[in-house]
Amino acid sequence: MECSSSPWISAARYELPFELDVWMSHGDHVTRLPDGFETTATTGDVVTAIENPERGIYCVQFHPEVSHTPLGKEIIRNFIFGICHCKGDWTPAQFIKEEIEKIREIVGPTDNVVCGLSGGVDSTVAAVLVHEAIGDRQTCIFVNNGLLRYREFEDTLEVYKNNLHLNVRGVDASEDFYSVLANVVDPELKRKAIGAKFIDVFDIEAKKIGDVKWLVQGTLYPDVIESVSLRGSSVTIKSHHNVGGLPDKMDLKLIEPLRELFKDEVRLIGKDLGIPDEILQRHPFPGPGLGVRILGDITPEKVELLQKADRVFIEELHNFGIYQDVWQAFAVLLPIQSVGVMGDFRTYERTVALRAVTSTDGMTADWARLPHDFLAAVSSRITSEVRGVNRVVYDISSKPPSTIEWE
Ligand code: XMP
Repeated sequence: MECSSSPWISAARYELPFELDVWMSHGDHVTRLPDGFETTATTGDVVTAIENPERGIYCVQFHPEVSHTPLGKEIIRNFIFGICHCKGDWTPAQFIKEEIEKIREIVGPTDNVVCGLSGGVDSTVAAVLVHEAIGDRQTCIFVNNGLLRYREFEDTLEVYKNNLHLNVRGVDASEDFYSVLANVVDPELKRKAIGAKFIDVFDIEAKKIGDVKWLVQGTLYPDVIESVSLRGSSVTIKSHHNVGGLPDKMDLKLIEPLRELFKDEVRLIGKDLGIPDEILQRHPFPGPGLGVRILGDITPEKVELLQKADRVFIEELHNFGIYQDVWQAFAVLLPIQSVGVMGDFRTYERTVALRAVTSTDGMTADWARLPHDFLAAVSSRITSEVRGVNRVVYDISSKPPSTIEWE
């Protein structure tokens, strides 16, 4: 892309070169400029940025927000500081202070609050923030849907109670989830079944608390965007069960303190709040959990098998010191069997796919270039330790056009 000398697309605080690489879909293009606009950047004949400074309108055709646009952040910075004159004085400590005040004000001196914990970064940070504001007037509910990672329910519950001193109830509803998922194959139907069962279980538990008016959710900004739509008003890519549903059914008002934040900001806030790294640095995990990583129908046996394979993968990422180099990594159980050999015998067993991606917010992602000796170690451990798996494959697809999860 070639830039003009406009202050945001070339130089304000960050001097941009005259030519730079950008990530752009060529599907749509500008055929005629609106009145009063001028072109500020092009790729040859194709217009990539325009502006009308008098009306304060600045437009790009490419994606400055993705990592594939190497200087995208600088363009956004130039816009924010050079054009919008923002100060850039956001700090985790200031955010926490302001949110605590806001939460106290919203909830008032007597209302009770309920919070659904998932074991992940977002709900944990939201719960600890609210706990700082109103203490044990918040009751947290941590549901085991039977689709969590290996030992995640037991270990995380321990951290919630003993490290973070949250007022938390652990509910093991695995069997209930397995029974509504029996023979469900379609990914969206699985999501809906898991979401609906979660609401039922949560509702029953919340009613035991008594007079509750508020629900805390760890909704992040990407959840908000993806739930509304990525491609216009009519297409929802995936239904995120953590946004919507519960509040209506239970007649609760929402507290979503992280709604305008991205994951890396939430981690910074969590660190300031004293949340241990084992939770804070944990890779993101979808609400429907292993349910969308077992392709085809879900059974407790398949869950156990996937939990074991996934645990090996994650353990080895830690052993090789590369867990933090990837944004998200997990194993997927494929609905196919293939021929193998063990000793003198022919086997006909399952295939596990390993997925590891680099990303900044999950909205775009690249497959992680993991070392071959690492992949060899994981494959060898899975095929020897996880009975029923005789083949391991590595997923080399980026998002787009793939998604991070397989369902
Ligand atoms: P995709 O597969 O859409 O994933 O590229 C992007 C990020 O979102 C997570 N994900 C979900 N999270 N409920 C969730 O709470 C869901 O239904 C869901 N589907 C995907 C995924 O793990 C990745 O971090």
